[in-house]
Amino acid sequence: MTASTTVLADKPAGTAAPITVAVALAERTYDILIGRGAIASLGARIKTLRPGAKTIVITDENVARHHLATVDAILADSGIVNTSFAVAPGEGSKNYATYEAVCEAIIAARIERGDLVIALGGGVIGDLAGFASASVRRGLDFVQVPTSLLAQVDSSVGGKTGINSRQGKNLVGAFHQPILVIADTAMLDTLSPREFRAGYAEVAKYGLLGDAPFFAWLENNWQDVFAGGAASLAREQAIAVCCRNKAGVVSRDERETGERALLNLGHTFGHAFEAGAGYSQRLLHGEAVSLGCTLAFEFSARKGLVGDNTAGRVRAHLASVGLPTRVQDVPGGVPDADRLMELIAQDKKVKRGKLTFILARGVGEAFVANDVDPAEVRGFLAEKLAS
Ligand code: GLY
Repeated sequence: MTASTTVLADKPAGTAAPITVAVALAERTYDILIGRGAIASLGARIKTLRPGAKTIVITDENVARHHLATVDAILADSGIVNTSFAVAPGEGSKNYATYEAVCEAIIAARIERGDLVIALGGGVIGDLAGFASASVRRGLDFVQVPTSLLAQVDSSVGGKTGINSRQGKNLVGAFHQPILVIADTAMLDTLSPREFRAGYAEVAKYGLLGDAPFFAWLENNWQDVFAGGAASLAREQAIAVCCRNKAGVVSRDERETGERALLNLGHTFGHAFEAGAGYSQRLLHGEAVSLGCTLAFEFSARKGLVGDNTAGRVRAHLASVGLPTRVQDVPGGVPDADRLMELIAQDKKVKRGKLTFILARGVGEAFVANDVDPAEVRGFLAEKLAS
């Protein structure tokens, strides 16, 4: 990742205009709009981007209860003909049956080339509706309206879409970029504190992987990010920095042939614990990322890449916001070291006896290590489980 893209003071508190971040991909370049109330511009933006387009909103039943009437009204005010389709909430909807139902709903609503799909929801909805958009009529344009912190800073940006296979997460999908992302930070007000906190792990991840000044800023300002509200723009600024960082990575490496892999910091360890907990409420994805980021820095310290004080700093910050940072923090226990290694090997192919991990030489200095010895990882995990 290149030098910091941190800009944390470009809008005074009280400014109503959203922050705009562009994802530069030549003729597929698109804007991310970030701000309280940004959703109000959805209809006008669609009319500018795709005049005359019909739309279908794909959402889940929980998000529909909170936000669908608002979105419907905004589209109606702009004279846009819209239908909607809501699926059951949760990761379970990223399956073949729900994907089929979403594709059929889009076809039944007579959404054609030139029309638009709108993904209104968290990461599950963005991935599912995005993949249906990539497939129906060999590719429809779509707009992301992310309603979780995790989706606003990560999954709605960059074009990764897909569903889960019986053999693993996100194994069936496509790269399909949205034409617009609207991250309305007021929509985060309806998240539970636990969901917001879990999303914050992905916010901290951007500092840890490539933006040390941003991590230092988060250490001093995280309470304002959590508080949100109109009085401070800390939340909007934090989301904008994450989106700027992600936009930079995606525009340089859309298909993850190199640098984009850094966005997986904390995910290899994290996925093993998430799978060990059965992808249940016991350990949310962002909580697993928090544990995984801490372990990635502690493993880096064990290999002499960073000092113990750096790993301690990472743990201290994530723990201070209430995120899990020790294997003992996972309620209900975790698998033993052998089982964790099986789960890691399922997630990441072992190539010539070596594993690939995202490790770090410092805060903001992550790198891809292709030559990690599985025995060293097993020994490290066994120590963590025993401590
Ligand atoms: N969430 C990781 C990526 O978009 O590449």
